Amino acid sequence: MADQDSRAGQRYTTPELLDWVDQLHAGHDPVLHQAFQAPELRGLPPIQVGMSEGKLLGMLLRLAGARKVVEFGTLAGYSALRIAQALPPGGHLWTLELDVKHAAIAKENLEAADQGERATVLVGPALDWLPGLEKYAPFDAVFIDADKGSYDQYGAWAAKVLRPGGLLLGDNAYYFGRLLEEDDPEAAAMRRFHQQAKEAFDTVCIPTPDGLLLGIKK
Ligand code: SAH
Ligand code: DHB
Ligand code: MG
Repeated sequence: MADQDSRAGQRYTTPELLDWVDQLHAGHDPVLHQAFQAPELRGLPPIQVGMSEGKLLGMLLRLAGARKVVEFGTLAGYSALRIAQALPPGGHLWTLELDVKHAAIAKENLEAADQGERATVLVGPALDWLPGLEKYAPFDAVFIDADKGSYDQYGAWAAKVLRPGGLLLGDNAYYFGRLLEEDDPEAAAMRRFHQQAKEAFDTVCIPTPDGLLLGIKK
């Protein structure tokens, strides 16, 4: 139950408290540890989802019985590995990454975790891959975590290719606190993402630190 302060956005977490619950509930096996550390060790931006968000992604996919998943924005493969580990035998993840170096590191990390077969990393602008991916539709879940100015287009595609009951997940749904800014085209795209999602999905914005939009396809 929220009190007035927590309703207004106040957080009760501290770095120490967060670390304790992260380690207890969302701790890493060695391959997740490698993928999580990779951005920092390999000179990539350290913008992978948090440990608990990664665990949450996997658990939501398991609850939904997801088998075929598309991810926008692979980075070093941490969230991809969380997703791949949550899929049943025969499941598959297609993960889209603009940057060749990011994609190569992600492939290494997925292979090190024995998930190289069930996760395909596709390199280039995500929008270019979408027509070719449609032959695998309907999908069970789409996780959006790439360039924020295209979230509206990615979300519209997700509405088209997800099965009824399929999951839409969108990281950074608060757009770093700038969601309501009037003069920022990326903020406007993120607001459209929220608004369009509400049309095609039953939605909630989960108050993770960055906001995680969750939709269930109508
Ligand atoms: N989901 C990852 C983090 C992704 S960070 C994780 O949690 O582990 C965002 C990624 O999106 C970056 O690697 C960036 O290179 C990629 N990206 C940016 N623009 C893109 C585009 N147009 N198409 C595909 N990927 C893009
Ligand atoms: C950035 C991107 C993300 O997906 C994220 O979770 C945090 C930061 C960024 O581009 O800065
Ligand atoms: Mg993100």
